[in-house]
This record gives sequence, C-alpha cells and structure tokens, in this order.
Amino acid sequence: MSRSLQPIRGMNDVLPSEIGAWQQLERTARAAFESYGYEEIRVPIVEQTELFQRSIGEHTDIVEKEMYSFRDAGGDALTLRPEATAGIVRAAISNGLLRGARLKLWCSGPMFRHERPQKGRYRQFYQLDVEALGFAGPDIDAELIALGARLWRELKLTRVRLLLNSLGTPAARAVYRERLVEFFQAHEAALDEDSRRRLSGNALRILDSKNPQMRALIERAPVLTEYLDPESQAHFAQLQANLDALGIPYEINPRLVRGLDYYSRTVFEWVTDALGAQDAVCSGGRYDGLVAQLGGEPTPAIGFALGVERVAELMRQASSAAAPAVPELYIVVGGERAEREALRLAELLRDALPGRGVLVNLGGGNFKAQFRRADRSGARLALVLGDGELERGVAGVKPLRREAGQSDCPLELLAARISSLLAQEPPAKAAGAAAAADDLRRG
Ligand code: HAM
Repeated sequence: MSRSLQPIRGMNDVLPSEIGAWQQLERTARAAFESYGYEEIRVPIVEQTELFQRSIGEHTDIVEKEMYSFRDAGGDALTLRPEATAGIVRAAISNGLLRGARLKLWCSGPMFRHERPQKGRYRQFYQLDVEALGFAGPDIDAELIALGARLWRELKLTRVRLLLNSLGTPAARAVYRERLVEFFQAHEAALDEDSRRRLSGNALRILDSKNPQMRALIERAPVLTEYLDPESQAHFAQLQANLDALGIPYEINPRLVRGLDYYSRTVFEWVTDALGAQDAVCSGGRYDGLVAQLGGEPTPAIGFALGVERVAELMRQASSAAAPAVPELYIVVGGERAEREALRLAELLRDALPGRGVLVNLGGGNFKAQFRRADRSGARLALVLGDGELERGVAGVKPLRREAGQSDCPLELLAARISSLLAQEPPAKAAGAAAAADDLRRG
C-alpha cells in the first residue's frame, strides 16, 4: 500500500459531523448582515504581497513572520490573504466603488497565517468579515457593535464580553509611542526578547504581551487614553453614550492595541473565557487612513472579523448548534425494474415535497441490509418498491421511528399520504456521516 498523505499542520478538514454549527453560524450571520444593509463581496484569496505590507504594516507579526508569500510563474510577489480588510479596500478602490459613496460590505472565507498552531489558532482559518466604508461614526461604530451583540444573542452565546479602546489619531498615537518607548527604554533590562524586538518597530504591541513576567511593568506604563486628541476623545465618549443607550455592556481596556497597523480611534474585541488562551472571537476597529494609504480618496471606515472556528467551538460548548438536516424518506428497492421506478419516483417526490430529503437505496442489498441503511440514514419513513408493489401500482409505506406495520399506498396518492404521515411521525434521528462517525467510534 502506498504511503498516505498527511494534512498540512494547522489546516483542518471540517467534517460533516462538525459542519452543522458552521452552517448555522453562516446562515445567522448572513441574515443579520443583510438586515443591517450589508452586501456580500467576494475577493481573491491571493493578492500582491505589497498590499498587505502597506496596510497591515511592515513591523507587525503578520507581515514580519506569518505570511504565506511566494513568487508565481510570472515572477510576481504574491501572498495568501492573512485577513480580508486589505483586499476589500483594494477591491473598493480598483472597482471605483467609492467616489463619495458609502458602502456596507461583508465577506467570508479562509485566511492564512503561519502561526504556531494550537487549540483555536490555525494556519488556515475562516473569518466572517464586515466593513463599512465612508462612515465617520461614532454612530456606525455603535451599530457595528450592536450587530456583534445580536449575533451572540441569536446564537445563544452568553460567555462573550466586549473590550473597547480608542487609539486616537495617528499623530496622537505617535506622541504616545514616543512616551512609551522612553518608558520601556528606561526599563530595558526587564523586557523579554519579544518586547525588546518590538521596542524599535512596534512599541505599542509590547502592551499586548502575553508574558506574565511583563505584566507588572506594563501596568506601570503610560496609558494611551491620556494622550488622545480632543476629537478622538469626543468620538469615544459619544460611542460609549450610544452603547449605553443600546444597553450593551463594555469594558474599557486602555491596553487593547490590536495587531494590525491600520487602526485609528475605535478598536474593540469580543472575548470569551471559554476557549483558553485564544480568547478573541471577534475583533475590529476603525481604519480612517487606510483607503487613502492604498491610493483611494480619503474615506473613513470601520469593520470587524469573527473567527468562525472559535465561534463554532463556543456554539458546540453551549449546545446551541442545530442538528444537521436528515432525510425524511428512504426508498427500499427490490429488483431491477423497481430500481428504475425508484429513481423516477424519487425525482417525482423531490418535486412534490420540496425541502424533504429523499434517499434511494443505491447499490442493491437484501431487504434486511437496506432497512438497516434506512434506519441509519435517520429517515422517518421507508418506502418499499418491489416487483409485487409495482404490479399492484403501490408503494409500501413503513414508519421507521415507531413500532408500526407496512401499508400499501397507491403511487398517485403517495405525496399527499407522505405529507400527512410526516406531520404525525416522531422526529428523525442524527444521521449520515455524523451517525457513521458515531458507529465507527462505537466499533
Ligand atoms: P484579527 O484580530 O487579526 O483582525 O482577526 C479577527 C478574528 O479572526 C480574531 O478575533 C479571531 O477570532 C480570528 N483569528 C485570527 N487569527 C486566527 C487564527 N490563527 N486561527 C483562528 N482564528 C483566528 C482582522 O483580521 C481584521 N481584518 C479585522 C477587521 C475587519 N478590522 C477591521 N475590519
């Protein structure tokens, strides 16, 4: 036997037994995004490397060490997108969508970062991403946060809290950065290696250090809030008043600085205590300078992205994911003629009973084996088509989720009979690949 190939580290298969939470999250998010007026956009997974260098920033972890970059056969420097915001802004500019217009866009798909994989942190992960371009806020800032709060409510997730901060304008932040560098330089001996590296390139990120030995020093560092320019202060106060009016609780965390350089003013993160170290389930903020920085007309903007794997795991823990869809009908087939009839009948039933799953037994097998498959499929009713039934112009109908005999039903009355029967039958059971995986586990 030849050697089987291994998956790439940090890149996961999402199996049918797990997909229910993903689909429910995607459905809920799509409906919520649309109800706030966001339109879907799909942008390429690969962009020029320069796009991410110019937007996320040269001195960030992502650009310094986490990008999947390569040269294509034509020699172009390309990168698998590590996030969606830069590509969406690029698309808005290159398609001329802005020009004074206001855009509300959402996007979903895989992102790629060469991070050290651990629970909740992967090298390919999915985001649901929302961007509002052309809005100066702070009304939209509050509305975006309300959209997040709505998602948690609709998904019945209670273990999420909102952290909020303002980074001010780039000019105010530059002054603050100087004070911070002076402070950390005065305590250089106490810095760990990572923080020493960040001191010259990205001193604000020292505040984000996860090293407990750095905590005491970071606590004493100057606080950004004290350096905010008056406009940013007013913007932040107004956002808080809007959130108070909406009844959305938040915690102001002056050390929330985010790992991407494009932010200004509002930044926020929804965090949970249910996932261990990877506690951010949804993060974002305002990036008023990015559109101009990438060559567009100056346009204020704000957005967020949620990590699909992390939210799906929260849903699993809260048992708030809906059960996967199962078929309603399983057609048991006896003989060659019945096989043709079963395929035809299944098509007629799919037309007549939209939304009801109809499975035909494929690949033969005796009645016992076919009924075993019918049971395992989760279906609520079996239809039996053999030579005898065909001669009489009927199908046998047998409930699978309660003790009951089989009865004949004329083929032309079948759809109506099935509809009324399904209204009374007990619910289906977990089925398909999920049940097959359970069977496997049970041996
Ligand atoms: P981010 O904080 O880098 O922001 O990522 C957003 C979310 O993606 C995180 O809160 C987390 O849930 C998830 N995430 C990030 N990295 C990983 C990973 N390695 N494995 C699993 N999940 C991960 C952004 O990407 C910004 N583009 C958000 C934004 C949109 N800001 C403005 N608009």
